[in-house]
Amino acid sequence: MITARQESDLARAVADLRALHPGVSSFAGDCSDPGVVNDLIRSIQRDFGRLDVVVNNAGGSHHGRPLETVSDEDWERTLGQNLMAAARVSSAALPLLKRSPGGSIVNVASLAGRQHSLVASCDYAAAKAGLIGLTRQLALELAPWQIRVNAVAPGLTSTARVEARWQQLPAEDRERRLDRIPLGRPGTPEEIAAAIVFLASDEASYITGATLDVNGGAFMG
Ligand SMILES: NC(=O)c1ccc[n+]([C@@H]2O[C@H](COP(=O)([O-])OP(=O)(O)OC[C@H]3O[C@@H](n4cnc5c(N)ncnc54)[C@H](OP(=O)(O)O)[C@@H]3O)[C@@H](O)[C@H]2O)c1
Repeated sequence: MITARQESDLARAVADLRALHPGVSSFAGDCSDPGVVNDLIRSIQRDFGRLDVVVNNAGGSHHGRPLETVSDEDWERTLGQNLMAAARVSSAALPLLKRSPGGSIVNVASLAGRQHSLVASCDYAAAKAGLIGLTRQLALELAPWQIRVNAVAPGLTSTARVEARWQQLPAEDRERRLDRIPLGRPGTPEEIAAAIVFLASDEASYITGATLDVNGGAFMG
């Protein structure tokens, strides 16, 4: 089951993914809205009857402004998408996850939640640091059910959204940012996905409460 707010993007993604797996289904809605989250979990129950893995990927930063200009609405939006959505989806998913042997949750945090960032704003860095805290504490809470909870912390990753912003930067800015990455390039979405798949899989059966840095060496925790 994949989710997003825009139905048109979801339909394209479902069409691509069905070529790989005919069982792919989608649910359009805002994961920071508690009512939507309950409907999402009901759809999963109806369509699949079980839930093995939750990936809390929804999020992102919508500005790069200094703290004095960050409004209460900015804080609510950023915390809602990057922290509360993961908490709500995980909470609503628990009754189903607890019935699934080897269930797991993977949260998509950020380099900005691991150390200071040259590009992130305070609300985004705080939300992602909070998500890493949620990951550790929930891992402890769910260990008695053998449910593992982990996070990945991507660095600069060339998704379509980031790629568009990247092309607009002056060449010297791009170089300055690449200089901070020992491997000398942004990551690809596939490289982040590979880390998520690993943490969700039985290959990671003894890993819980961990945050895996996937950032070309920009931060070595
Ligand atoms: N790209 C990077 O450099 C980078 C670096 C570090 C961490 N991250 C993290 O990685 C995750 C994915 O980022 P991305 O760069 O792939 O962002 P993206 O291209 O904007 O994709 C985000 C996806 O999540 C969906 N989404 C966003 N908010 C949602 C909500 N409230 N409810 C349901 N779906 C929602 C979006 O679809 P709709 O807009 O249709 O809802 C979209 O499909 C985020 O958590 C981000 O903070 C990214």
